[in-house]
Amino acid sequence: MKEIHIDIRLLSVAPEELDGTQRQLVNAAREATARSYSPYSRFAVGAAALLANGVTVTGSNQENAAYPSGTCAERTTLFYANSQYPDQPVRMLAIAARNEAGFTDTPVTPCGACRQVLLETEQRFGLPIQILLCGEKAVYVIEGVKNLLPLSFGAEFL
Ligand code: THU
Repeated sequence: MKEIHIDIRLLSVAPEELDGTQRQLVNAAREATARSYSPYSRFAVGAAALLANGVTVTGSNQENAAYPSGTCAERTTLFYANSQYPDQPVRMLAIAARNEAGFTDTPVTPCGACRQVLLETEQRFGLPIQILLCGEKAVYVIEGVKNLLPLSFGAEFL
């Protein structure tokens, strides 16, 4: 028997330490929360993807009275990016969220299904995506989905 340790790495950065590109994308994700349709959870999530061609696309969570029919902000954004710009790698993705008290203090972390879609998007283009998980007090900067979804299942198994 042997124990295996898997190392994942991220930077916890103060919002004012972000560079200009990161800051713009964080602001776009925050703005996208205003277009969330979340009457059931009242948890508004926004995401913004920066594509290799310089275009930024945004999306938000879209809920439904039949709860599982709704979609998270990350998948809305990634599927929109991949359907509008199928040949453009996603280089960076920022995610922000707010509840009735305002934007979350701690960084919002994507659900498992969204991590899986992020992995596929990254593998499709073979380029690591920088992921910015936004909180008011700190932003987690993550270089590549391997640091968000260890022991992942991908196309290499098929
Ligand atoms: N949600 C997202 O859009 N992204 C996340 O990273 C976490 C959760 C949405 C799904 C649902 O509309 C609401 O937040 C509460 O779970």
